[in-house]
This record gives sequence, structure tokens and C-alpha cells, in this order.
Amino acid sequence: MSKVVVFGSMNMDLSIAAPRMPEAGETLQGSGFLANAGGKGANQAIAAARLGAPVHMLAAVGADVFGRELVDGLERAGIGCEDVRALEGVTTGVAVIVRTAGENRIVLSAGANHAFSADDVSADLRRVGEKNDVFVTQGECDPDATIAALRAAHSLGLFTIFNPAPARAVPDDLWTCIDLVCLNETECQIMCGVLPVDEKTCLRAARRLRDLGAGSVVITLGSSGSFAVDENGAVMRVPAARAEVVDTTGAGDTFIGALAAGRAKGLSLEESMRWGAAAAAVTVSRLGAQQSIPTAEEVGPWQ
Ligand code: RIB
Repeated sequence: MSKVVVFGSMNMDLSIAAPRMPEAGETLQGSGFLANAGGKGANQAIAAARLGAPVHMLAAVGADVFGRELVDGLERAGIGCEDVRALEGVTTGVAVIVRTAGENRIVLSAGANHAFSADDVSADLRRVGEKNDVFVTQGECDPDATIAALRAAHSLGLFTIFNPAPARAVPDDLWTCIDLVCLNETECQIMCGVLPVDEKTCLRAARRLRDLGAGSVVITLGSSGSFAVDENGAVMRVPAARAEVVDTTGAGDTFIGALAAGRAKGLSLEESMRWGAAAAAVTVSRLGAQQSIPTAEEVGPWQ
């Protein structure tokens, strides 16, 4: 099996349940406070590792208590953390999450996630990346470093997966460095100008992203499952697996971790999407981010 290399964010998630979102100037009584390991990059790395892939992490945390705790968690999952820097003078990334009725809203403090430079990540990739490894990155690290990482990974022959979350425009010529883009509805609208709400708009969005140069396009649609157009233009739809929703935090990351682990194992895109749907259904049935991500045994077979 090839390995998964993740360049991404590591955050301490401070999460609290509320009956609804507060209005401006309002203070609401919440409950169920939880501090737990998160960050889209680290969550995706944990998901791929728990599903059985060898994973190497490229990331930065602050030289502080949160940073140490986050690295310990990744190491306990068997993830290679030799290239996770603990930086002086910056704080570890923090996400403040408000959970309401199974949905969440997040405010991020990037901290050390924005202190990993384009030169450093390119050099790390040249050292650890091997042809046919799977490279995964998202939108929570420094934008220039993320763009440089995708270019470096592509030029080294890694299979690149980009999750533009949070979404922001990228240079036009970057799209040909992206073998698979996986994004939700709002991210899709920002990246290509089409809000995917039904079959027709999903197809239009996926075609637009492929015309820009992306290989395969996977659009996640929450409880409506996922939609994809692969590198040959084949269209696939996978329903969401049934779940009792407790907390959606980390569900999308679990799905992406499964796409990466599935690719590393040699599964087809559709098989990986089904595996991801089953894994994400377990994640939403539990509270928190990394602590809710299941192992391969808990998910069961990918068929
Ligand atoms: O995707 C969920 C993640 O987004 C949380 O763990 C939080 O850290 C934010 O990065």
C-alpha cells in the first residue's frame, strides 16, 4: 500500500452546544463543553490512519500545551509526526465551535497553521514524498504554502487530493496539479461559481472544475450523499449512510480520509466514496472531531 502524506491544520477544538445561534449582542446559556483534538488536516490524517493507511503529517503547532496534546494524539494513531514543527512565538491553532441541532459553526484562529512556509513544505515533500503516494491538503494552512505543496506533490508524481475548506480562489494553472478535488456545496460555489443543489447543477459544477483542469471531482451533499465525476468523465452518486446525528464535526474530514486511504489501498473512487459514507455516518453519531472518527473495524467492509 502507498502512504498518505497530509499537509494540513492541527487545531484544538473548543466546542459547546447551544439551543440556537446567538443574535448580535446576545449571551446564550450553552451546555456540553468539550475541548478535543481537531483541525481539518489532522482529522483527515486520523481518518486515513484509523482506516489502515500509513500516514505522514506535515504541520505546525505552537510550542505549548495544546500543541503537545495534538501531536501526542496523532502519534497514538500511528501517524508519522517527525515533520510536525512545534514553533516558538505562535500559538497552536484553535477552533471555537458552536453546535446547534446537529449542525455546527466554526471560528478559527490559525496560529501556527499559517507559519509553515511554502519553502519548508516543498522541501519536506521532496524528502518524504514518493511517486504514487497520496497527498492531501485543505484550506486552513497558509494559502501560498498550500499552493506550493500541491505543485510540489504533483511534480513528484504523488496523487493529489485538495479539499478547499475554507474555500478561496486559487491560480488557474493550479487545477492541473489537482488529481481529485473534494468540496461541499458552498465551497463548490466559491471555487467554480455553481451552487450544486440537484443532479443538473452538480454535473455543471463538476464539468466546470474538470474544464479548469481538475482530474476527478467529488461534491459532498450532507445527508444527500455525494456526487462525483471521475477522471474519465464517468458520473457516480453515493447515498449517505443512515445515522443518528449527534455532532457533524469532522464528518467531511472522515469522508476525505477514506478517499485518501481508499486510493492508497487501490480501491476505485466509487468504492472509496461508499467507504467514506459509512465512516462519516459513524463520526456524526458521536461527539467531537478526532475522538469520533472510527477505525476500519468499526466501519466494516467498504462494499
Ligand atoms: O472540519 C472540522 C474541523 O474544522 C474542526 O475539527 C475544526 O478544527 C475546524 O478546523
